[in-house]
Amino acid sequence: MQKSVSGFSKLTKTEKIEWIVNHYLSGSKASKDTLLQYVNSDEKLQQLHDEFIENTISNYYLPLGIAPNFKINDTLYAIPMAIEESSVVAAASKAAKFWMSRGGFKAKVIATTKIGQVHFMFPGDKQKLQAFFNAVKPQLLEDTKDITKNMEARGGGILDIILKDKTSEIDGYYQLHATFETLDAMGANFINSCLEQFAKTFKAEAKNHLEAPVEIVMSILSNYVPDCLVRAEVSCPIEDLKDKNIADPELFAKKFLQAVSIAEVEPYRAVTHNKGIMNGIDAVVLATGNDFRAIEAGVHAYAARNGKYSSLTHAKIENGVFTFWTELPLALGTVGGLTNLHPLVKVALEILGKPSAKTLMEIVAVAGLAQNFAALKSLTTTGIQEGHMKMHLMNILNQFHATDKEKETIIHHFKTHTVTHSAVVEAITALRQ
Ligand code: HMG
Repeated sequence: MQKSVSGFSKLTKTEKIEWIVNHYLSGSKASKDTLLQYVNSDEKLQQLHDEFIENTISNYYLPLGIAPNFKINDTLYAIPMAIEESSVVAAASKAAKFWMSRGGFKAKVIATTKIGQVHFMFPGDKQKLQAFFNAVKPQLLEDTKDITKNMEARGGGILDIILKDKTSEIDGYYQLHATFETLDAMGANFINSCLEQFAKTFKAEAKNHLEAPVEIVMSILSNYVPDCLVRAEVSCPIEDLKDKNIADPELFAKKFLQAVSIAEVEPYRAVTHNKGIMNGIDAVVLATGNDFRAIEAGVHAYAARNGKYSSLTHAKIENGVFTFWTELPLALGTVGGLTNLHPLVKVALEILGKPSAKTLMEIVAVAGLAQNFAALKSLTTTGIQEGHMKMHLMNILNQFHATDKEKETIIHHFKTHTVTHSAVVEAITALRQ
C-alpha cells in the first residue's frame, strides 16, 4: 500500500484518522479506538486543541501534578508540574517540605534582556558598512515604531542594535545584533517582527548608500539568553540539614559538595545532573504553557558557555553554613502564546497567583534547584533506586494490568521490601498463583 500522500492537510480529521489507521496501523480497530478515546467530547475544547497545531488526529495527555509547600522569597506556592516521569513530583515536594522549615528558597531575577539577530552578507568595505549602520540606526528604530508602540507603552521595547563583524568566522558575514525587553511576554513574535522590519529597512537603505549589496540571510530571535538570568538559592547551618535520611549532616554536606563538584568538572555526570534539574524546570515550563524546547536549548548552551559542559548548580560551605544555588537563563512569558489559550495553562498560572514573567522565572529556577537537591540527596544517601522505584511501582503494576485488589496487596508488601522490576514481577506472579 502506498504510504506517501499528497493533500493530507486538506483531509478532514476523520479522514486523516482513517488514512493513518489504514496506511500505518494495518487498519487496527483497537488503535483507531485509542486515538478516538483521547478526543475530548467537549467539541469546543477539542477544536481549540486541534487548532494549536496542524494535522491533529487526537490529544496526547501528560499528567498534571502539584508539588506543594514551596516557600519562595517568603511566599508559599503549590507548583503545577506537567510530566510523565514517576518520582519527579514527589521529589520536588519532598525538597520543598525540607526547605520550608529551613528558611525556604530565595530567588532573584538578575536580568531580563532577550536577543535577536539579522544575519546578512556584505562583500564590501567594512568601514563604510559601519558608517552606514551608524547613520541608518535611527531609521531602523523609527521604522519599527508601529510594532513597538504598545510594548514601549508598557515599559519595554528595543534596547539597542549593534553591528557585529563575523567575517573572521565566515567571509562577508555580519549581524545586526539587537537586544529587547519584552516584560511579561516571552516575546518571540515581537522580536521576530522587529527583526524582519530591521532587515527590510537595512537592505532598502543599503541599496542607496552602499556600493556593494547587502544580502539578508535570515532574521530570527536567539533562544540563547545569557542576559535573561535568574538565581535561586537555599542555605542553612550545616547542623540544620539533619533529617530521617541525614543522620550526620557534616558528612552529608561534604558528600553533597563532592557530588556537585563532580558535575562541575565531568561532562558525563553534568549531563545527568542537569537532566535532573530539567525534570523540575520542564515540568513547570510545560504546565505554564511556555516553550520547553527553547528553554532546554538555552539552558544547555549556558551550561557549556565556558567551552565545557558543566553543572548548572553549585554548592559551598562557609562558616558552617551550607549554600546550594543555581543561575539559569530562562526566557519565559505569562502573557501571550498558549498562556491565554490553553485552559489548563490558565489554571496553572492561577494556582501560581498569576505571576509576572519575573516571578515565574524565580519559581521555575527554584523547581529546578529543588529537583536537583532531592536527586543529590538520594544519590548521596540511600541511592536513587529506593525512592524512584517506590514511585515507579504503580507503572509496573499497570504494565501487568493489576486489579485494584492486587495493587493494594502488592503495595502493602513493598512497604517492607525493596522495589525492583523483578521483585514486583515475582510478587504479582506469586499472588496470581
Ligand atoms: P520518601 O522519603 O520515601 O518520602 O521519599 P516520604 O514518604 O517520607 O514523604 C516525604 C515527602 O516526600 C512527602 O511529604 C511528600 O512531600 C513527598 P508528605 O506529603 O507526606 O507531607 N512524597 C510524595 N509526594 C507525592 N506522592 C508521593 C510521595 N512520596 C513522598 N507518592 C522520594 C521518596 C521519591 C520523594 C525520594 O526518595 C526522592 O526524592 N527521590 C529522588 C527521586 C528523583 O530525583 N526522581 C527524579 C527521577 S530520577 C532522574 O531522572 C534524575 C537523576 O538521574 C538525576 C541525577 O542523577 O542527578 C537522578
